[in-house]
Amino acid sequence: MINKGIILSGGMGTRMSPLTKAVNKQLLPIYDKPLIFYPLSILMLANIKDILIIVNKGQLDQYRKILPLDNNLGIKISYVEQKSPNGLPEAFLLGKKFIGNSNVALILGDNFFYGQSLSKTLRSCTKLKNGAKILLHRVNKPERYGVAKLKKNKIISLKEKPKKFVSDLAVTGLYFFDNKVINYTKTLKPSKRGELEIVDLLKIYLKKKQLNAEYLGRGGAWLDTGSIEDFYKTSSFVSAIENRQGFKIACLEEISLNKKWIGKKEIANSIKFYGNCDYSKYLSKLI
Ligand code: G1P
Repeated sequence: MINKGIILSGGMGTRMSPLTKAVNKQLLPIYDKPLIFYPLSILMLANIKDILIIVNKGQLDQYRKILPLDNNLGIKISYVEQKSPNGLPEAFLLGKKFIGNSNVALILGDNFFYGQSLSKTLRSCTKLKNGAKILLHRVNKPERYGVAKLKKNKIISLKEKPKKFVSDLAVTGLYFFDNKVINYTKTLKPSKRGELEIVDLLKIYLKKKQLNAEYLGRGGAWLDTGSIEDFYKTSSFVSAIENRQGFKIACLEEISLNKKWIGKKEIANSIKFYGNCDYSKYLSKLI
């Protein structure tokens, strides 16, 4: 079982400068909430309550202002500061103490997931005992991502940002690993772009025949928010669904309440914290 999760929420967000000069990208809005709420909600939907957020050096206070009430969400949030981004697998070195002897999930702070059967898929991923599991999703522009080539439903190869077409199944930014991930990360060497690569880590599991995949089918949405254009597109998506249905995507308190991790008292605390806003009005309707 996996009950610990890491959100990699650092990065300089250079593609979004000047917006990201003073504020971390994951704290900028996707429609009506900071981006960080979305990956956090995914870990919560996976029943992961012990969460480490990796942030840029000097930006911890920004997060503490937005997420001060972790008890109130029925979860535990801890933080580690990253001096400079050296690639995604660095999360397992920075998070070594947090992970301890457990298995662990990793989600990238700028990945957005949505879909009807998502919670079920997530819960199945957290059953992992040995090896690693990734979540694949078909995309139109696979050259922008890590991709997996499959044969008879088994992953046979992985390639980071392939220039020539290999497969249209992108490796999304949500990964599930056994505890060996810490030691495997220590053996990685920086790639040509000078970073540790998640694909190299996954290849170690592939070689050992210990890499499996779940799928986010065409009824699900996976969006990444690397550019300003992506922020607008994802915001429009959230706005369309929320306004049509009257439900919020990634309302953290609602997820906790549904899971019975919190009750009315905590919702009332949150309303007080957020103040007079739409999010609070939504919360008050829940109780
Ligand atoms: C990273 C990974 C890539 C993965 C993507 C998902 O890419 O290296 O394999 O498909 O995240 O968002 P990056 O966002 O660092 O370009």
